[in-house]
Amino acid sequence: MKERIAAGFSRHLASYDEAASVQAQIAARLSERLNPIMPPKPRVIELGHGTGFLTRHLLPLTPKEIWLNDLAAPLPDLQWPEQTRVHALRGDATEIDWPERLDLVASASMLQWLGAPRDLLDKAAENLVPGGLVAVTSFGPGNFPELARLGLAAGAPSYRDAIGLCHDMPRKMEVIAAWDETIRLEFADARALFGHLRATGVNGLMGGQLSVPRLRHLMKRMDRQGPVTLTYRPSCCIARKPGPSASAPPSKA
Ligand SMILES: C[S@@+](CC[C@H](N)C(=O)[O-])C[C@H]1O[C@@H](n2cnc3c(N)ncnc32)[C@H](O)[C@@H]1O
Repeated sequence: MKERIAAGFSRHLASYDEAASVQAQIAARLSERLNPIMPPKPRVIELGHGTGFLTRHLLPLTPKEIWLNDLAAPLPDLQWPEQTRVHALRGDATEIDWPERLDLVASASMLQWLGAPRDLLDKAAENLVPGGLVAVTSFGPGNFPELARLGLAAGAPSYRDAIGLCHDMPRKMEVIAAWDETIRLEFADARALFGHLRATGVNGLMGGQLSVPRLRHLMKRMDRQGPVTLTYRPSCCIARKPGPSASAPPSKA
């Protein structure tokens, strides 16, 4: 599975930035909530950075140190502030050695690809300082209902809505915000929809479920049925490890 995920994304990295408008929105909305509550000069790890939709929003945090992880993608080409130390951590986020004493573990649109997202969230909590944050997004079980109605199985192994993400968070973590969204795209026809899935790297991950004749048959059916849409159901969760945060004002003794 891991090899298939890596191949699926690396083959389509060039088209991802333009096609993955939904993932871009998800990363932007997560950082709208996250950035205002971050301490200055944090130590950050981002898991599954891909082409850098979320990474770009981490730039204004001017991290003291940032570790960028991905299974397949090269480091996003970004101009980091001079004082930021950037480390590439290539490999499976569940297997690599993580840095300790982090202020933030962030990940957008990646958790759904893991067999056991809960184990990764445990690891995140372990490696945070008290007051440190986990900020993640995934997709809910109702993702791509149009494809489910056609009998196509879910592409990813671990869909979670916001409640599911909260449930997977270690009990010691305090959830600060959790929310679900619905983002619907409309396409000129079924061919354009499958082109979109291919360009975002998802198509190849649907397990070769579609032979060419079956795909043609499905596309005709979709075109006959009227407007061709694809509904994403992103889910997001921000949680804090209990304890004083670095940004908290000093207590008056
Ligand atoms: C849908 S892309 C999201 C990329 C980016 N975070 C964004 O918001 O656009 C998922 C990324 O997660 C990476 N990925 C999937 N499984 C992974 C794993 N086990 N460890 C690290 N990265 C992984 C893929 O290589 C891909 O770049």
